[in-house]
Amino acid sequence: MMSKSFLIIFAVLFVFASPTLFAENAFVGAKKCKSCHKKKKQGEQFKIWSKSNHAKAFKSLSKPKAKKLAQTVGVTGDPQKAKACLVCHTPAKYDSKGKIRPAKMFGKKFKMKDGVQCENCHNAGKKYWKKKVMKKITKEGGARKSATAKKVGLNAPDKKTCQHCHAAEVKIGGVVYKNPSFKDFDFEKRLKEIAHPVPN
Ligand code: HEC
Ligand code: HEC
Ligand code: HEC
Ligand code: HEC
Repeated sequence: MMSKSFLIIFAVLFVFASPTLFAENAFVGAKKCKSCHKKKKQGEQFKIWSKSNHAKAFKSLSKPKAKKLAQTVGVTGDPQKAKACLVCHTPAKYDSKGKIRPAKMFGKKFKMKDGVQCENCHNAGKKYWKKKVMKKITKEGGARKSATAKKVGLNAPDKKTCQHCHAAEVKIGGVVYKNPSFKDFDFEKRLKEIAHPVPN
């Protein structure tokens, strides 16, 4: 009897808790991060990112070169519409199982054309973008150490984060997608190319 009522309680909790969890874990978009991460004294992360090729990762799929690269991995048609390219070039579009995320997972400022954005490295921001949370995380020693960061899902990206895309291929939902331009990936060197620290 005891275990049965536990099961019922658990089932009820699950039904009520899961849609909320799902709804809360949403992408707010780089423009939302911009409102605070644009000032020089804060390290102008938005400007650095918007000038980088990560911000152009969707746009560059329209270049003639993209079509040629696509053919080398057997992808025909428009690369800007090919899942085989978008999984790395506009990655927020798909969840970890390779399914298209529903519109409610994205805030008004989120734009698919922004390519590889802040939240593709730092994780979906709906639970951490507010100033109070961000300051608390910094007070607790930064994203790597902070318990709050873990709770709200702010990721301190490392080599593994990069190698999801900077690799010869990625497996999503059991399907392998080949990276047609991959040669190698020197983490330390490439990290310097995209550095956007908060100045001391
Ligand atoms: C596994 C992830 C991944 C997949 C899948 C992928 N790419 Fe890329 N792509 C990358 C990464 C990472 C870079 C950056 C390479 C670098 O700077 O080291 C890149 C760079 C590029 C570039 C710019 C670099 C250049 O050589 O000019 C183009 C164009 C490109 N990819 C096209 C495509 C096309 C077309 C597809 C689909 C057929 C595709 N990519 C699929 C990860 C991927
Ligand atoms: C390609 C991945 C990637 C993207 C895109 C990216 N970041 Fe980062 N971010 C990193 C890495 C890696 C670090 C360094 C983590 C470390 O050294 O602990 C970092 C660190 C930071 C830091 C902390 C710096 C410090 O000194 O502690 C801030 C703030 C930040 N990112 C904000 C942003 C914002 C805002 C955007 C979008 C405008 C963005 N990031 C886009 C990978 C990324
Ligand atoms: C309302 C203002 C605000 C917004 C919006 C905001 N941040 Fe922050 N963020 C801050 C402040 C303040 C800090 C503390 C460091 C500083 O002074 O720059 C911080 C720190 C960070 C850090 C460093 C944490 C550490 O390790 O110390 C990262 C990473 C970060 N923000 C990423 C983002 C991303 C990604 C977004 C968008 C999804 C975002 N922030 C949106 C205000 C904001
Ligand atoms: C979600 C996929 C993804 C992740 C995660 C990712 N990258 Fe990239 N990166 C790309 C793609 C795609 C490009 C090529 C964009 C283009 O030219 O179309 C790229 C380009 C770059 C470039 C060239 C930038 C420039 O402006 O020339 C550097 C450097 C780089 N990535 C470093 C990193 C580092 C370091 C990390 C981890 C902290 C990382 N990337 C994480 C997909 C990713």
